[in-house]
Parts: sequence; structure tokens; C-alpha cells
Amino acid sequence: MRLRGVLSILAALVATSAAIFADEAFHLDYQYSLLGEPQPHTTFFRKPHSSTNASLLYTVSDKAVLGAVNPKDGTLLWRQALAGQPVENGSSSQLILSEDDGQIISGHGRIVACWNALDGKLVWEHTLAAGLEIVGVQAVPALDTSPDGVSQDVVVLTVPTTSTAHATIFRLAGDGSGVKWQHADPSHTQGTSASIVTSGKHIYYVSKSHGLLAGSKARVVTLDSKTGHEVDSNSVTVDSEALGTNGQLTAASCSTSPFLLSSEKPYKSIKFTLLGSSKPVTLSLEDKGEDIERVSVHHPCHPEAASHFLLHVQGKTRHWAEVYHVNPKSGDVKKAYSLPATEEHSTFAATSNDALVFFVRSTETEVLLYSSESHGQLGRWPRSSVLSLRDGYPAYTIAEVVNRGKASYAVRVAEVSTKGVWSLIRNGDVQWARPEMLAYANIAAWAEDEGPDALAEELDLELSVNPLTAYVHRLKRHLLDLQTLPEYLQALPAAILTPSPDTESSVRKGLVGKKTVVVGTTRRELIALDASNGGLVRWQQDLTPQIADGIAMKSITVSEGRVSTYLSDGSLVVLNATEGTLIEHQRGAIAIDDLVQIAGSKTAVVIKIDSHGTPHPATDFAPSHPLEGNVVVTIDDDGKAIGWTIGSTVEKTWVLQPQKGFKITKAVARPEHDPVASIGRVLGDRSVLYKYLSPNIALLIAQSESSLTVYLINAVTGAVLHTSTHQGLVPRTETPAVVSENWYAYSFTSQDPTTSAVSSQIVISELYESSTANDRGALAGRSNFSSFGPDAGVEPHVISQVFTIGQPISHLAVSQTIQGITSRQLLATLPESNAVVGIPREVLDARRPVDRDPTSTEREEGLTRYSPVLDFDPKWSLTHSREVIGIKKVMASPSLLESTSMVFAFGHDVFGTQITPSMAFDVLGKGFNKPQLVLTVVALAAGVMAVRPLVRKKTVDGRWQ
Ligand SMILES: *[C@@H]1O[C@H](CO)[C@@H](O)[C@H](O)[C@H]1NC(C)=O
Ligand SMILES: *[C@@H]1O[C@H](CO)[C@@H](O)[C@H](O)[C@H]1NC(C)=O
Ligand SMILES: *[C@@H]1O[C@H](CO)[C@@H](O)[C@H](O)[C@H]1NC(C)=O
Ligand SMILES: *[C@@H]1O[C@H](CO)[C@@H](O)[C@H](O)[C@H]1NC(C)=O
Repeated sequence: MRLRGVLSILAALVATSAAIFADEAFHLDYQYSLLGEPQPHTTFFRKPHSSTNASLLYTVSDKAVLGAVNPKDGTLLWRQALAGQPVENGSSSQLILSEDDGQIISGHGRIVACWNALDGKLVWEHTLAAGLEIVGVQAVPALDTSPDGVSQDVVVLTVPTTSTAHATIFRLAGDGSGVKWQHADPSHTQGTSASIVTSGKHIYYVSKSHGLLAGSKARVVTLDSKTGHEVDSNSVTVDSEALGTNGQLTAASCSTSPFLLSSEKPYKSIKFTLLGSSKPVTLSLEDKGEDIERVSVHHPCHPEAASHFLLHVQGKTRHWAEVYHVNPKSGDVKKAYSLPATEEHSTFAATSNDALVFFVRSTETEVLLYSSESHGQLGRWPRSSVLSLRDGYPAYTIAEVVNRGKASYAVRVAEVSTKGVWSLIRNGDVQWARPEMLAYANIAAWAEDEGPDALAEELDLELSVNPLTAYVHRLKRHLLDLQTLPEYLQALPAAILTPSPDTESSVRKGLVGKKTVVVGTTRRELIALDASNGGLVRWQQDLTPQIADGIAMKSITVSEGRVSTYLSDGSLVVLNATEGTLIEHQRGAIAIDDLVQIAGSKTAVVIKIDSHGTPHPATDFAPSHPLEGNVVVTIDDDGKAIGWTIGSTVEKTWVLQPQKGFKITKAVARPEHDPVASIGRVLGDRSVLYKYLSPNIALLIAQSESSLTVYLINAVTGAVLHTSTHQGLVPRTETPAVVSENWYAYSFTSQDPTTSAVSSQIVISELYESSTANDRGALAGRSNFSSFGPDAGVEPHVISQVFTIGQPISHLAVSQTIQGITSRQLLATLPESNAVVGIPREVLDARRPVDRDPTSTEREEGLTRYSPVLDFDPKWSLTHSREVIGIKKVMASPSLLESTSMVFAFGHDVFGTQITPSMAFDVLGKGFNKPQLVLTVVALAAGVMAVRPLVRKKTVDGRWQ
């Protein structure tokens, strides 16, 4: 009776413990939503709307990404890529805030766009004529008392990019209704610098040609802001070097008294001209007995602010500043005071509250606040963390000052450091820091080995000594382990009873192992990210002293705790993988275009490939001893593929010339780590279809103007095993491809010639030894054969299927697990929806029955009826609701768990996650009920206790009988 009671309790416990694999999004994955490095002339604190007092931080980065950041915590509120995708050359982008109507206006390329400052939605957009490029955007001050709700107009300055166009100034209506007037300047020639300024009723167009004959005059054309008619035109004497905003002659364009500022090395004096008065004034800089390297200007940017400005003087060893007051009526300027020279790096920022102007000085140790009226400090805050070379120095700052009643101020400084970190310092304390330098990542590598494992080392030690010493050592080790037991036991109940998502994911992290990614950026630095721990930045090393201008990183490899980076000039930079410190920099003899590693007798051998596609064993750093019979395929300048065998010598074995008009653009091989768990595919009727598995297959992608040919080749002999051709390729679209196991996949975008409908397709091809089950084809039963033998040219049986997809794919990769047992996923980057999806291989199966329902045996295999359209199931999205922009590459790496593959994506945003294509079969899911397990064990123990007297009585009774 009692026994039955216990059993029914157990049954109740089991019934509720169904396994639930809850979505682990936002626990296992991480993302850096980046903007790129903010530019000084397009970054400001502004209220998104006149009815609010909290300001936001707006910027356009030099990758032409516009964004709004919450100054409280550094979170990105919204962003828009002005060129559609982040670009490398967006530094000419413009940004202005139109006063009081909650809109900001950007200019990039030839598009002027107006955005809602609060939510980043597009209000209107105006595209200018082709052949023009925007170099300046200014708001037109609202002079006439316009009724409420009328948006401020903007003037746009464009310069020609072709010889037939002219520099043109447009006035665009603030409500998006288009051009009000335009004024062309036919005299503008290429290489002329031009800038535009609005002030009161006038618009000033300033141009200055460069070159020997140009002299030292700038032309200032004054236009009537209402009509665009030329009012006046005169020449102003200027010096050769422009000191205004963003390297232009004009400064303070957003205030009521804009001026021209120029100078000449060695910066003894500065030429100042107030626009509207042609009288130049020469300001002489204080002589501090030091060579001056740079002078920059800071001024408030508000129509009501006083006309004061600050010159930041950077000497060889010291920085100081001089403050000037402008008399807008007479055009005079006089020096008010100067700020002391310090040996610390300083940056200055100007800001205003109504008419009051403040200057904020940030140094390595403190933040200082001055009024523009006098040199007395209004506030002084020591920095919470003193900057050092490791953190980088502030490159420039933007400040906001809040007056909290009598002589009490709060200062927020948004600072971009030389390391590319954008941070906010509030009264000296760092509030947040955004690693914007990660937006420049263009190459990355997994750091596989984390150095020697401590336990493995101890075990090795025990193996190498005599048994007695080993025994004593092991005893000591276990005793040491026991020290942590009490803490472990104490933490155990909490871990069982109150599991939090964080503990779950930290347990998971322990199981998948430690993974680091080393990223190389176009800013010429290497950064290590902890891929298993939320992508934390481990270290950052600036390699500008080692990498000259125009030299790119071509390959990063991590082994034995060393990060080796090969540069395009052939040199090698080695860093310590744990700390990022420089170990060595060696100049190489062979410039490289690409780099491959092949098997060598002791260590892997590096093969450098020059720009003509010829491989050279890298003997410049270490002697190389490659094993015989390595095969390398390269592509030369003419688009031919060349096969090489590399042993003690380098031999050209074959050349593959694609048909006329085609050029081979890409060669894809199986990944280095591509384990095959099963050599066949078991069909529903228990027969086996044998996979065609060759380590030597490679895919060559050849493209002509409008066609795509894909060759599957045997890389040893150059024999073509299979080809396919697709017509109507849309030029300049991506054709990503991937090869793994016995299959390959590629994607392309094509246009139907008759309907001109554009569609994207993904092709999957599977290779088998023969078309019939249980047949190993011509080479069956052979244990060895030569690739060059007459009977070796056996072609695989290829089955392909094409699926139409809703949007193009820019990059393909395949998931990786340690044994290859877990089914694979195709990791596809979708640039149109800013997402990365994992397409299960089961869906992309080339054997799906066409035009009929699957038979029962096919159903048993998991095959479904072929449908030509492949919809991306929202469940496949690896990025979930996150928007990842500018992803150029996705990398996968096996983890310690067979079920789990680590994924890392970079390009602009950085995204990482862990995927389990066949579900997490080797870990307990979140739905696993630990209290229930404990209760079950307790109940079982209780049950055993309960039935023990019964059993004993029975045994005793039995004996007595
Ligand atoms: C904004 O600040 C002003 C003055 O500092 C204050 O009078 C007003 O109530 C504030 N408005 C909001 C919405 O906080
Ligand atoms: C930036 O570079 C791209 C190509 O690299 C080019 O198409 C574009 O016109 C450039 N844009 C600007 C503003 O220079
Ligand atoms: C890297 O630095 C760590 C700590 O300084 C050191 O223990 C390790 O030996 C270094 N590794 C190499 C390869 O020099
Ligand atoms: C290859 O197999 C043949 C028989 O099939 C045998 O005679 C030959 O010795 C083998 N060669 C090697 C290198 O194992």
C-alpha cells in the first residue's frame, strides 16, 4: 500500500517535467550596434523637441551612419545609414538641426534628407542632379515671422564630380516641397575648396582655388537669402592653411557672426575676417617659445550666443588656448584671455546656454569649465580614471553645460579617444563607453587554443615523475580542491532553487569552452573579443607604427598563444594572444595578395600568394618544410585558375581557362575543419546512398557581364567534375558560395530578360558516389587509387535544386561542430533586412521530391515536397529582433559541445551567438526543473526508507518458513 503511494508521487513528478527548450535569445547572443567614429563637425547635444529638456547626442560618423544616442547610458536610440549601408568614405557627410521643430537634416552624396529627431523616421528626402556632391548644408535663419509649424529652409552647397556640372547652391524648402532657388557658379574648377555660411539675410559662398597661380585670395560671393540673387562679390586676403570648421576657411557658420580663419606655418599669426566686412584682422599668437603644430577653432553654435571663440594651440609638448571676442558691428576682434599651457593632452569644446558661452577643457586628469567672459574657473572635476597611453587620449570632445542655480554647474563631455572609443564623462565620471572602433573590422580569426590548461599540465606532470611522487602530488591536488568545497556546497542550494538566466548562461559558457576572436580593423589595430562572454573587449593594440599607409592586413592566425598577422607588404607582426603586447615585427621579402597554410613536417607552412597568383613558400621568417603533395589553387590577374602542388618545390600542375568572356573571381574549398560523421545517407528503406567525399574538391565561380558559371573541380588534376551556368546575372551583385562535406551551395541575383523581374536564387548540389543506393560506383572496393590514374576520373552523381528566395544573400557560411554529427546550418547574411539567418540543411535538401508528395519511405527520411520558393522562416533568424547592419562576414567555430556551434559576424556591427542546429541535445535546457530532480531523489530515498522495514520483514518471514 505504502509502496503504491510513493509510486504515484513519482508519476506526478514525471508528468510535469516535459522538456522545454525556451528561446535563449538575448542571453547567449550579443551585439554591438555601432555608428562608426563620430565626426567633430557633425556631432552635437540637442533636445529632440522643444517641449523636452533632456537632450540626445546626435552624430553622423565617418561611415555615413546617422544616429541618436541616449547620453544617460550610451544606448543607441535609432540610426540610419545615409548611403544605404555603412561606407568607408563618408567623412563629407553633413548634419544640421533645424531649430525648434524636432527635425534634423543630413546631406550625403547628393541626397538631402530630413529626419524626425525623436524616432529617426524619414520626413522627406530630396535627391539633387547627378554629377553633384554635397559639401555643405546650412539652416536658413527664420527672419520673417513665419507661422508656427513652418519648417526652416536649408541651403545646400554642391560641387561637381564631373567636368560638365557646375558648383551649385540650392535653397530647399523645409517642408520637403523642393528647390526654392538655385545659383550656379561656372567658375568653380576641380580642386577648389568651397564652403557656405548663412547669416541674417545673406548667404556667403566662399571659394578658394589651390595651386601656385591661385594666390592668397578667397572669393566671397554674397547672395540674397530670399531670392538667391548675387548681391556682392569680393576677394579677401587669406593665408594658405584654412583653420575653420572641418578644414574649411569658414568658421562659426551656425552663429550670427561667421568669419574666415586662416594661417600659415609656423602659426605665428592668424588671419581673421568677419564675413560681411572685408577688413582682415591679423591676430598674433602668444609666443611660448615652442613650435606650434596645430591650431583649431571652437565656437558656440547658436544664433543667440555671444560672438566669442577659442583657439586651441597644440605645441610640440604643451597645449594652451586663447579666447577672442568679436564685435559683430565693427568687424573687430580682441583677445579676452588665454588659458595656461599644460603638458597634458587637452581638448576643448565650446557650448552655450542662451547668450552665455562656455569653454570646457578636458585633460588626461581633469575636466575644467570656463566662461567665455573671463579666465576664472567655473568648475573643476578630477577624472575618475586618469587616462594613460593604454586607454588612448581624447581626440576631440563635445560638451554640454547645465546651470544648476548659483554658480553650480554640471558638465557632460562626449569624447572620442584616439583608440576609437566614444565615451561620456559627466562631472569627471565616465558614464559609458562605446567601442566604435569595432565598426572598422575587416578581418578576423578564431583563437582556438587558450594556452595550456592548468589541469592538463598537472596531469602531464604526474605522468612524467615516479609513481610515489605522482601519488603524493595527486593527494595534494585533491586536498587543495577540497578547500573550495564548502563554498561550492553553500552556493549549491541557491543555484538549484533560484536559477537566473545569467547563471544558466554562465553554466552554458563553461560547457562550450572559452573562445576568443581576434579582429583586425582598417584603423590598423588588432582587437581581441571574448566570443564566449558577450563579446567583451579583452585587449586592443594599435599597429600604426608597424603598418604603413596603404598596407592592409591579409591574414591573422592564432597559435601557441601568439597572434601572427601577415601584411600586404609581406611583413609579419606577432602579438601575445593573452595580453596583446607586441612580440616582434619582421619585414618580409615577398609582398602578398593572399596567404594559405599547408601541412608541414613539424608545423604548418605558410604559403604567400603574390598578386599574379603565384605561390611562394614563406622562407623569409622561418625555414619551411612542407609535406609532399599539398595542393593549392590560385586565381591569376586574367581570371584563370591555376593548380599547384607544393612539396620541396612548387610545381604548376594545371591551368583552367574559363570560356571566352568569363573570368574566375572566386575559389572556394571545404573548410579546414569539416568532419564527416557518416559516409553515407541512410534512406527510408534502410539502403544507403554513399556520399562522394573528397578532400580535394573546389568550387570555382566564373563571371561574365551577365552570366555566372560554377565549376566543381578536382583540385589535384584540375578535372572539371560538374558545371552549371546561369544567365541574366545582375552586375555587381554578390555570388556567395560554400562547400562542405559532400555538398555545395551558392546564391546569385538575376534578372529575367523579358519581364526584367529581379530575383535571387540559392542553389544546393549534393554529390553521391552513384545514383543508386547501396552502390559505391566504379571505385567500389578499391582501397587505394591515384587521382591521375585512368580509372580515377569518376564523376560524382550530382543532384541539384534551386530555390527562389525573397531577398539577396551577401555572404554564406556553414555551421561547425566538433564531430560533425549535428546537422548543419547555412548561415546567410541578408543585407536588405539587416539580419543573419541559419537555413537548416534539411530544408535545402536536393532530394526533395518534385511535383509529387513524398512517399512513406521518403517521409521517414524527413523529405518534404519541393517548393520553388523558399521563405525564410522567422524562427531561422539568428539575430532575432536585432538589426545588424553592414555584416560582411560570418564565421562559425566548433565549441566543446557537439550540439553547439559558435557564430561571430562582423563588418560594421559585431554580432555573436551560439547555435544548436539539432537542438541542444547534450545540455539541459532552461526548462529542466532542478527542484523537481532534487524532490524526485528525495522522494525515492524516502520511498526506499519506507519500504525497507517491509522488505526486511518479508526476508525474515521467508527465512522462518
Ligand atoms: C525645462 O526647464 C525649464 C527651466 O529650466 C523648466 O521651467 C521646465 O519646467 C522644464 N521642462 C520640463 C519638461 O522638464
Ligand atoms: C565612396 O566610395 C564608393 C566606392 O568605393 C563610391 O561609389 C562613392 O561614390 C564614394 N562616395 C563618396 C562620397 O566619395
Ligand atoms: C604572453 O603574456 C603572458 C603574461 O605576460 C605570458 O605568461 C605568456 O608567456 C606570454 N606568451 C607568449 C607567447 O609570449
Ligand atoms: C594499392 O592496391 C593494390 C591492389 O588493389 C596493391 O597492389 C597496391 O600495393 C596498393 N598500393 C598501396 C600503396 O597500398
